[in-house]
Amino acid sequence: MTTHRFPPSFLWGAATSAYQIEGATQEDGRGASIWDDFCQLKGVIRDGSDGSAACDHYHRYAEDIALMRAIGLKAYRFSVAWPRVMPQGRGAINRKGLDFYNRLVDGLLEAGIRPFVTLYHWDLPSTLNAQGGWTNRDSAGWFADYATVVVRALGDRVKDWITLNEPWCSAYLGYEAGMHAPGYRDRTLAARAAHHLLLAHGTAVQAIRAAGDAQTRVGITLNFTPNLPASESEADRRAAAEAPDWFYEPFAEPILTGAYNARVLERLDGAVEIRPGDLAIIATRNDFLGVNYYSATLISAERGEVHDDNPEYTLMGWPVRPQGLYAVLMRLHHATRGQLPLYVTENGASFKDEVVNGRVHDEQRIAYLRAHIASMHRAIQDGADVRGYFVWSLLDNFEWSLGYQQFFGIVHVNYTTQARIIKDSGYFYRDVIANNGLA
Ligand code: FCB
Repeated sequence: MTTHRFPPSFLWGAATSAYQIEGATQEDGRGASIWDDFCQLKGVIRDGSDGSAACDHYHRYAEDIALMRAIGLKAYRFSVAWPRVMPQGRGAINRKGLDFYNRLVDGLLEAGIRPFVTLYHWDLPSTLNAQGGWTNRDSAGWFADYATVVVRALGDRVKDWITLNEPWCSAYLGYEAGMHAPGYRDRTLAARAAHHLLLAHGTAVQAIRAAGDAQTRVGITLNFTPNLPASESEADRRAAAEAPDWFYEPFAEPILTGAYNARVLERLDGAVEIRPGDLAIIATRNDFLGVNYYSATLISAERGEVHDDNPEYTLMGWPVRPQGLYAVLMRLHHATRGQLPLYVTENGASFKDEVVNGRVHDEQRIAYLRAHIASMHRAIQDGADVRGYFVWSLLDNFEWSLGYQQFFGIVHVNYTTQARIIKDSGYFYRDVIANNGLA
């Protein structure tokens, strides 16, 4: 018996990104990216690792497509590595790099899996970083040119495009917190990068439409960590609603409304030149919005940010708060008056797994997925136009500055042998897909 049934066309998928799974960073003419460089710095990656081998997906993509098929995925979100396609970031195109994505897309379509392609999941070509990277206003044009090359090559078969993944992380973790590549700690640079990333998004949406066909759909993926009231009291609700939302305001708001609010402007002011016309470009119409959701913040009127009485944490240290997914989806539904289709482009959890007799009994991950899928279902019942859901992630992979010590996959990867094992959560997800909902 299915208690939470989804709309018939609901798209169940899984997501990955290039640098986290591909490996083969020195092969077939790929150029270097800021993540190759960053990983070489001492002490920045917790286990001293890098993405040079990762899941060796570059060579094992056919096996990985077979896994997707075994799970029954209807869609797969992956990213194209800019430096594979344009090793210098601009100019010369590397055919061999494009060929890899051609093979991958063909294999997916043969398996009946719809590709969703992210054009930028953090691996900026190093040569562009040497020219200022996202702090250089020209980056908008560089990105649009690269997007055009990829859409011209794959657009006959790929119809769903995501410009950027989580520009919040690119700007603030990369240029202000120094936690991500390129590893700078400078508020001014971060503000500049944030504005240019938005400009790059809007410019690329226009370029992708120009290079694509009538079926082409394009959007962006943003990360949300919403403020939730710590209790149902009127005071807590008001406090949560009025608290600054540092995830929503700098990116979702200008994209959806064509304006920065006063708080964001204060941060950008003096750091970056906002030219007339920029916000119109940033607010170029999208065909959908990608929502990445992992956790939420609890706000109390009296005590500010608080913790649950009985908090459950993932291995990342992120509190498990499935109700936040409902909150984000409903907020976006209202903000767009239901006019913008939503996809949950990432949701999932890292827990420590154990392989026992060739199986992985990851009950906590199953519970996390079940609760979040139910929360999303409630949003759909309440009117949100959610078209699909992508588990993060298909495979255990290179979790950025945390290296190989986090485990988000519904498929376990043994990094010594590269053997894959579908975890119990993968089988759980297979059943969700087969039932089009939770049983
Ligand atoms: C998101 C990233 C993704 C992965 C998950 C855990 O912020 O988009 O690459 O690292 O978090």
